[in-house]
Amino acid sequence: MKLTVVGGGSTYTPELVDGFARLRDTLPVEELVLVDPAADRLDLVGGLARRIFAKQGHPGRIVTTGDLDAAVDGADAVLLQLRVGGQAARQQDETWPLQCGCVGQETTGAGGLAKALRTVPVVLDIAERVRRANPEAWIIDFTNPVGIVTRALLQAGHRAVGLCNVAIGLQRKFAALLGVAPSEVHLDHVGLNHLTWETGVRLGGPEGTDVLPRLLAEHGEAIAADLRLPRPLLDRLGTVPSYYLRYYYAHDQVVDELRTKPSRAAEVAAMERELLRMYGDPTLEEKPALLAKRGGAYYSEAAVDLAAALLGGGGSPYQVVNTLNKGTLPFLPDDAVIEVQAAVGPKGPSPLPVAPLDPLYAGLVANVTAYEDLALQAALHGGRDRVLRALLAHPLIGQYAYAETLTDQLVAHNREHLAWA
Ligand code: G6P
Ligand code: MN
Repeated sequence: MKLTVVGGGSTYTPELVDGFARLRDTLPVEELVLVDPAADRLDLVGGLARRIFAKQGHPGRIVTTGDLDAAVDGADAVLLQLRVGGQAARQQDETWPLQCGCVGQETTGAGGLAKALRTVPVVLDIAERVRRANPEAWIIDFTNPVGIVTRALLQAGHRAVGLCNVAIGLQRKFAALLGVAPSEVHLDHVGLNHLTWETGVRLGGPEGTDVLPRLLAEHGEAIAADLRLPRPLLDRLGTVPSYYLRYYYAHDQVVDELRTKPSRAAEVAAMERELLRMYGDPTLEEKPALLAKRGGAYYSEAAVDLAAALLGGGGSPYQVVNTLNKGTLPFLPDDAVIEVQAAVGPKGPSPLPVAPLDPLYAGLVANVTAYEDLALQAALHGGRDRVLRALLAHPLIGQYAYAETLTDQLVAHNREHLAWA
């Protein structure tokens, strides 16, 4: 089996490689290709990746290259984990929206729109080259904003599935609180990428007993603290929102915090410098503990599980993925991309049925789906008007004066990445 990671020079890659090494019985990778235009980073990351495989006795070969077409040639699955413009672009996304009192974040709000506009054309070009090399290859997209990028890929007819670690993180957390194995915990997970709620936590599988009320009663404090949301909110909802819902439920508070502390991009850039220094140490043979301070915990396990299921070798029968709605949430268009539990096999994911969604969530999901549609139009066809329409539709922006200002800011800060600007 050949697996290719686009953005393989990411400091996150050792997390992925560690997962491939530990879980080699689930996913027998024979060749792992790390492709990245940044040769220096790729050298450091590739060196550590090889040492991790060697230390854990993994027989697979690790290839590093800057040549995308060679990298995807013959690949069974291609993982996308790139960041157009790097942390510098993220730093901008997190900063200029604050001028209007709107959240500055890499995937939510105006910053997320900027990221979508920079990213969608690049990802579509890569996907075309994957399809040319092997029309059967699966594309697993970690590249944010995952909902919009996956929708772009599926609309262009690619064999793609979007993936995020929020659900697997909660599954692991709940399993620890309940004292059971993670595979015993089935989440009723519903919404859009970075806009989801756990409406049930079942033991044993989709038909298992719902222990969410017990979990909230016994561990509500710990869960709320983790999400940095007030405990009474969780009790009122009776569900567990993802921590990205904090940008909605505590929007103004978050904006105040963001205005006074260093950006996440700056924190991550400092961590990346340190990580790369560590990766250069020839005696390091495992992922360093510092990597756990990044947001991507367990993403390797989600990736292994999904790749194994898509390539026919096993993996969990049900997995939380980003895929076409096709009637699952009846109030959304069929071609919207949703994040839900799906049965996954070699033919791809098919969503499990979802119970009728409380209007409390359905309204926001419908609103953000409309925004994502308009964001994709702006990313595909460009133009100031399309950017403005997406910002007007976003529930965290909406006001005309803000949308005008933020459109100008978005264009000014991203000119080098936007062909039309
Ligand atoms: C989580 C999200 C990812 C996001 C990451 C950011 O893993 O699911 O989509 O990219 O956090 O983490 P960072 O360490 O870069 O802030
Ligand atoms: Mn994510």
